[in-house]
Amino acid sequence: MLLYRSAAWFAKGLREYTKSGYESASKDFVPGDLEVQVPGRSFLVTGGNSGIGRATVIEIAKRGGTVHLVCRDQNRAEGARGEIIRESGNRNIFLHIVDLSDPKAIWKFVENFKQEHTLHVLINNAGCMVNKRELTEDGLEKNFATNTLGVYVLTTALIPVLEKEHDPRVITVSSGGMLVQKLNTNDLQSERTAFSGTMVYAQNKRQQVVLTEHWARAHPAIHFSCMHPGWADTPGVRLSMPGFHASMGDRLRSAAQGADTVLWLALAPAATAQPSGLFFQGDFLPGCEGAQDPPSPDHPPLHETRIGNQCPHTCLLLGHRPHRLKRRN
Ligand SMILES: NC(=O)c1ccc[n+]([C@@H]2O[C@H](COP(=O)([O-])OP(=O)(O)OC[C@H]3O[C@@H](n4cnc5c(N)ncnc54)[C@H](OP(=O)(O)O)[C@@H]3O)[C@@H](O)[C@H]2O)c1
Repeated sequence: MLLYRSAAWFAKGLREYTKSGYESASKDFVPGDLEVQVPGRSFLVTGGNSGIGRATVIEIAKRGGTVHLVCRDQNRAEGARGEIIRESGNRNIFLHIVDLSDPKAIWKFVENFKQEHTLHVLINNAGCMVNKRELTEDGLEKNFATNTLGVYVLTTALIPVLEKEHDPRVITVSSGGMLVQKLNTNDLQSERTAFSGTMVYAQNKRQQVVLTEHWARAHPAIHFSCMHPGWADTPGVRLSMPGFHASMGDRLRSAAQGADTVLWLALAPAATAQPSGLFFQGDFLPGCEGAQDPPSPDHPPLHETRIGNQCPHTCLLLGHRPHRLKRRN
């Protein structure tokens, strides 16, 4: 089953997640969607010093938004902040040093943050794929601590801050890689099977999608979404998946192309016309293409996910959600 899923996912990825997939999808983007200015709105972007996060911050800064970068490394973060200010001409870029694999540090950060700042949009972008089993100081598996628990704690702590504002949004940068894993809540610390960083990462990204659906139901005043950026050439991919990075070469998207969907979800007025809680990824599946096709709620049976007994829950899998909405006439 895993082999089937992985092969089907990779074939889909070659069609849709690559640079050519982006170029083909972008022909149908609504051009005015990102022609917005956002002075007075405040955005918190985790991992904004690198890759997709950095590309996202530059575009928000160019549109006049106030940006809070949440990063773990002071030097890397300060360097990125300087470049972002130079490139965008926007000085309202603030830096907070937090290791997102440390839940206590996140909680403490939010306690201070909310005394001084407002927040309209949270972008959970930071993520990692650690390829051997490492534990944090709290004894948590590192990928889970960063990708799932960190996202959960940060979002939960900031919900009351977001709820005070107009048009609050939370966007989580998940991954199409989650399509190769069903939700497994029985081994959150990856103790019971041979460790694979790729599969743990896929599981974490699935958990983010499930959390997003949960938050959307529980907090209707906030618009939640999660998305797949495609396969983009970033330091994260270069370091964690060197073989994949080398074999894909020029076919990878740029970080800016990878940031397009997160920007659309964070900035475009059209994004909140979509229901809260969706997963946005690549292009339509064949048969779902075409300007008039609405996103479909159907799911291929092999990709269904159920959470325990309480909730017959089906994640939005193999397609059906556009990477940005296509133009509708
Ligand atoms: N690139 C792709 O093809 C692709 C595909 C699917 C999903 N994604 C997702 O896209 C997001 C951005 O990744 P990227 O590709 O742009 O990689 P990247 O350049 O490595 O960016 C990841 C960012 O997360 C930060 N980070 C990692 N662990 C952290 C921690 N414990 N505390 C605070 N910050 C931490 C990194 O900080 P440092 O710079 O200090 O390491 C970096 O700023 C991730 O969630 C990734 O899973 C990427």
